Amino acid sequence: MTGLVYGLSSALGLVSQSLVNHHREVFSFAIKIADAFPIPEHDKGQICVAALLHDIGVVAFNGAITPETNDAELNDHAELGYRLLRDFHPFSPAARMIRHHHKSALQLEEEEPDEPIRLGAGIVHLADAISQRLDPSHCLLNQCQQLCEWAATIPAGVFSPEVVEAFLQQSSKEYFWFDARFATVSQLGGASALSGASVTLDLDGLRELSAVFGRIIDYRSRHTAAHSRSVAEVAAALAQKAGFSDCDCSRMQVAGNLHDLGKLALPVSILDKPGALAPDERNLVKSHPYHTYRILKEIPGLGEIPAWAALHHEVADGTGYPFHLKGDEIPLGSRIVAVADGFAALSEHRPYRLGMERQPCLELLETSAKAGKLDASLVALVAENYDELNELTHSALSKGQQEYQKILKEALYWPRLTAGAKRTGAQP
Ligand SMILES: [Fe+2]
Ligand SMILES: [Fe+2]
Ligand SMILES: [Fe+2]
Repeated sequence: MTGLVYGLSSALGLVSQSLVNHHREVFSFAIKIADAFPIPEHDKGQICVAALLHDIGVVAFNGAITPETNDAELNDHAELGYRLLRDFHPFSPAARMIRHHHKSALQLEEEEPDEPIRLGAGIVHLADAISQRLDPSHCLLNQCQQLCEWAATIPAGVFSPEVVEAFLQQSSKEYFWFDARFATVSQLGGASALSGASVTLDLDGLRELSAVFGRIIDYRSRHTAAHSRSVAEVAAALAQKAGFSDCDCSRMQVAGNLHDLGKLALPVSILDKPGALAPDERNLVKSHPYHTYRILKEIPGLGEIPAWAALHHEVADGTGYPFHLKGDEIPLGSRIVAVADGFAALSEHRPYRLGMERQPCLELLETSAKAGKLDASLVALVAENYDELNELTHSALSKGQQEYQKILKEALYWPRLTAGAKRTGAQP
C-alpha cells in the first residue's frame, strides 16, 4: 500500500519534475516534523499520504503554483485535491489535511474540529512553506539558518507554535536537509517511523484508489473526463465474458483505470488537440504506455496489472509500441484493455467528432481485427454484446462528466481553466 502511494506520487512527476521534487521535499520535512509528536502510527500514515499527494488538485486541473498565486487560488487547488480524494475512505483524513494545507493556524482552529487533522494540516502547511522558500540551485544546509530565523519570527496565528518548535528542533540535524535533497521517496518512507504506519488496502480498496488516479488522468482534458472509467468498465465486462475470475475482473478494472497513467507526461495542448497530431506530437504520445509500464512495475504486489494496463498499444504483428511485442507475448489481459480502449474511444464524443453509433463503430473495430491490429475473438465478443457494452460506456461517461462538473463547481473555480471568469460564489 505504501509502495502504491509512492508509485502514484512519482507518476505526478511526469507532469512536472519540479512538482515531484516539491512533493518529495514536503514529505521529507513533514515526516520528520511529525516524528517529534507522540501521535499514533495511523495518524502519521495519513500525514505521509497528505504530504505526498497534497498538490494533486494542481495536476488534475492543470494549474500551476507560482509566487504570484494568491491565497484564494491556493485554497482552490487544496479544495480540489480534497474533493478528489475524500470519497476514498482509507485516505479521507489525509484528504481533510490536504483541504487545509494552506490555511493559517487561526483559520484551522475555526474550520477544523479534529485535532489530529489540524496537526497534520499544520505540519504539511509548514513543510510546504519551507519547500517553497528553498533555492534548488544552492546547498540546503546553507539556507537553513535563514529559514529557521524566518520560522521563529512568523506570527503565532500563521503556523501553530508547537509545529514551528518541532521544525526548529528537527532541522538542527543536518540530515533533515540532506534527506530532502538526496533521498528517494521510498528511502524516506522506509527510514522513518512511518514505515509501519501504512494503510492496508484490499482489492476493492486498490480498485477505488485506481479510480481516483483515473480521474486525475482524465480531468486534465475536458474531452476525456471519463475515458479511464469507461475503459475500466468495458475491460472488466469483456474479461468476465472471456472467462476471467471475479478477482481478475476487479484487477482488470484497476488496469483500465490506470492504462493511461503515462498520459500525465503529455501536455494538455496535445490531449485537447482537435484532429490529427503532427509527427513530433505522435512521438510524445507514444511514450505514454512506456511510462505507465515503468511506474506500475515499480509498485510491489500488482501482479499482472502493469502488463495488462501498459501493453494496450502493442499489436500481434509486432508493429505496436513501445516494446514491439508479438503474438502470444501480449497477454490476453492487455489485448482486452486494447479492445476496450478502442471501443470506448470510438464511442466517446471528441472535440472533432461525435461518438460513433453501432454500425460504424463495429465496422472500424472489425477492420482493425482483420488487419491483425486487435484481437478478433475479443472484437467478436464486443459485437455480440454491443448493447450492454455501449450502455456501460455511456453510463460511465455521463457519471464521469457529472462528477467532473460537480467537483469544479463545488470547489469554486480554477482561474487557469476559466480564464477571465468571475468567482461563481458557490460554496462547498
Ligand atoms: Fe498546495
Ligand atoms: Fe505544495
Ligand atoms: Fe493509450
